[in-house]
Amino acid sequence: MEGDLIITGGRPLNGTVRIPAAKNSVLPLLAASLLCSSPVRLRAVPELADVDTSLQLLQSAGCEAGWQGSDIVVQGVPGVCRLGADAAARMRASILFCAPLLARLGRAETVLPGGCRIGARPVDLHLSGLAQMGAVCRAEGERLILTAPSGLHGAEITLRFPSVGATETLLLAAAAAQGKTVLRGAAREPEIVDLAAFLNRCGACVQGAGSSTIRVEGRRSLSGCSFAPMADRIVASTFACACAAAGGRVELTGCAPEIYRPLLEILEQMGCGVKYGPESVVVSRFGRLHGAGKVFTGVYPALATDAAPLLAAAMLTADSESSIEDVVFERRFACTEGRTLCILPGTGLKGANTAAPDLRGGAALVIAALAAQGKSRVTNTALIDRGYAGFAPMLAKLGSEIRRETRPSDGTEKKRH
Ligand code: EPZ
Repeated sequence: MEGDLIITGGRPLNGTVRIPAAKNSVLPLLAASLLCSSPVRLRAVPELADVDTSLQLLQSAGCEAGWQGSDIVVQGVPGVCRLGADAAARMRASILFCAPLLARLGRAETVLPGGCRIGARPVDLHLSGLAQMGAVCRAEGERLILTAPSGLHGAEITLRFPSVGATETLLLAAAAAQGKTVLRGAAREPEIVDLAAFLNRCGACVQGAGSSTIRVEGRRSLSGCSFAPMADRIVASTFACACAAAGGRVELTGCAPEIYRPLLEILEQMGCGVKYGPESVVVSRFGRLHGAGKVFTGVYPALATDAAPLLAAAMLTADSESSIEDVVFERRFACTEGRTLCILPGTGLKGANTAAPDLRGGAALVIAALAAQGKSRVTNTALIDRGYAGFAPMLAKLGSEIRRETRPSDGTEKKRH
């Protein structure tokens, strides 16, 4: 999907949203499917640009990977160790496809991964962990070449920071390595738990996912399975913040509020109504929104860094001060030099022309536009499409005035939702 988003703000949101599967679970699961010797089916996957990029990576490795309705099916043994450079450069998560290739083929070649420009985002933790498991990693310009001449072996690894991606890389490597791996200082995000559940369903032996110590016994081969990835807590957070900013009442179903509770608690503190169910939540805002004071992001179970720009957009509509410090990424907020964004009460948002700086920053601009008086245009929407499928129609269904507008070269305007 291309095209600008045109939003006329000032309308409250009302209705129900079913939260789709999580991008940040689906991408590692697609990487994990490279370890499986029989077909993998991921059920009800949203049509995201990053999912398409992942399919291209799987195809470049020699697998058959494609859509069957809303499911994705991956089959075939990877036979090519070099990942498609265009696809790999486009997305940070491309690095996750290396460990399985290394485990199965003894070699993986890629380019340094791209992704949202929200900080330096090195891959040293991925590489040093793999090196402890027997891999030799070398960079040649933008290319990254990993070899494991004698295969991967289990190791005792301690991460200096609980990186989500490095934990996923090392889980994938350990599941197929020879012997036992103990990973200390691991990330505890729910997407790690989902990856471990998938691997175990395929015959792996992973214990302790969701805690900071994960133990894995390597297996020679894994089978495939049919798996429904967990719900997207950041998409749920997006709609919760949109309701806080624009007002109204939105029910978010299919996503346990537990996995984004810190965000919901801050919204409650700001004056929103939040009614918790086991797998759903109702967020409402009819009165004024107040500032949240000082809040911080952190690694799970703290407030997610990906939710910070979304919350900031809601804070823009509050009648008193808020500040958010992001301790995970040093350039999370494109509009400030430091890690802390301070938001003072203003005289009300007005529609504007803006460009998405990155995925969550782009979604935040949409939220702000929903709350603003008048018309806004958000360009650079390909960045938003990386993580939101059907964002505009979902918001339109809740009563927002939002549409996609393509600007073909002949000057005629095409509209689509
Ligand atoms: C994952 O990125 C998510 N992406 C990000 O979501 C999310 O913001 C992030 O985790 C934190 O929750 C996917 O799951 C595909 P990290 P990842 O490794 O794995 C430093 C979104 O909008 N670090 O936990 O790249 C790094 O620089 C995206 O959906 C190293 O120093 O995050 C950062 O400061 C954006 N060396 C911190 O750790 C390493 O080798 C956290 O990064 C790896 C990371």
